[in-house]
Amino acid sequence: MAVSRRLFRFGRSLRTATAVYLSTLIPGETELIVVVEDPKRRNNPVVTIPVELMEVLAAAECVTVLTGAGVSAESGVPTFRDAQTGLWAKFSPEELATPRAFRRDPRLVWEWYEWRRILVAGALPNPAHLALAEMQNIFHRFHLITQNVDGLHQRAGSRNVIELHGNISRTKCSEEGTIISSCKDTGNIPPKCPSCGALLRPDVVWFEEPMPEMEMRQATDASTHCNVFFSIGTSTVVYPAASLPVEALRSGAMVVEINPQVTPFTAKARFALAGAAGVVLPELLKALKASRGT
Ligand code: OAD
Repeated sequence: MAVSRRLFRFGRSLRTATAVYLSTLIPGETELIVVVEDPKRRNNPVVTIPVELMEVLAAAECVTVLTGAGVSAESGVPTFRDAQTGLWAKFSPEELATPRAFRRDPRLVWEWYEWRRILVAGALPNPAHLALAEMQNIFHRFHLITQNVDGLHQRAGSRNVIELHGNISRTKCSEEGTIISSCKDTGNIPPKCPSCGALLRPDVVWFEEPMPEMEMRQATDASTHCNVFFSIGTSTVVYPAASLPVEALRSGAMVVEINPQVTPFTAKARFALAGAAGVVLPELLKALKASRGT
């Protein structure tokens, strides 16, 4: 197995270096670029975006992005699988995010989502969300697919976001599936559907539930008809969302992963930018604008 290491140093010395561009070829030809931040230079980190990626982006007609909980981590919204802070480290998905859990204890499930709703409502879009919102105006066709239910992409100004797992701020009838914008507070927890009296639930996709058809079709289409596909802030372990980067690869797109950690998909990506989305994406946007003279 050939491993070539190239170390580029920025700044005066390694200690003050703001970014170390460490390119290692992971078997399968993935180039891993490790971004090491220097907290003292948080506001103007130097992240080098691979030239080959910039060249492909310069000619790209269509760019598709898939995001996960990692994109909202810098907004203070916990991810799911972080060993310490992840939601699934503290709570069991079986008890809170399945139709069976809701039938078993609807109040427990409702109150847990209410807690997350308040947390999300208090969060603000971070530089990653804002950079993606700007990127939609740079490319002829740009698709943003998210597994996140927090609505932070839309609050950052992203349009036509494909929400694969629903949105926590919406409520629907657990029987009819209709979205309920408001209902009288009768003290019931969960509240009841004003039209059929069934329990209301958050409009999110729970494990073992079917994916929303239209969104899944749009996501597959956007993933198999793009020049560059970014997989950002997702552990790529939850399907069918995790199959989208693979489908993009199969359809000939250049696939780039942005994640501080290695994921099951890293070795398949052409470039893996190992850094925080809130650091890497604003620099990518800066480089895109510079390359287009805007
Ligand atoms: P996970 O919590 O599984 O993964 C979050 C990923 O984000 C990890 O790979 C982290 O390394 C990475 N990450 C953390 N901080 C980051 C940062 N600042 N910038 C970039 N990446 C960062 O969350 P998802 O992959 O989104 O589904 O999980 C997928 C689905 O599983 C969710 O939509 C949810 C969950 O169960 C349902 O509940 C149906």
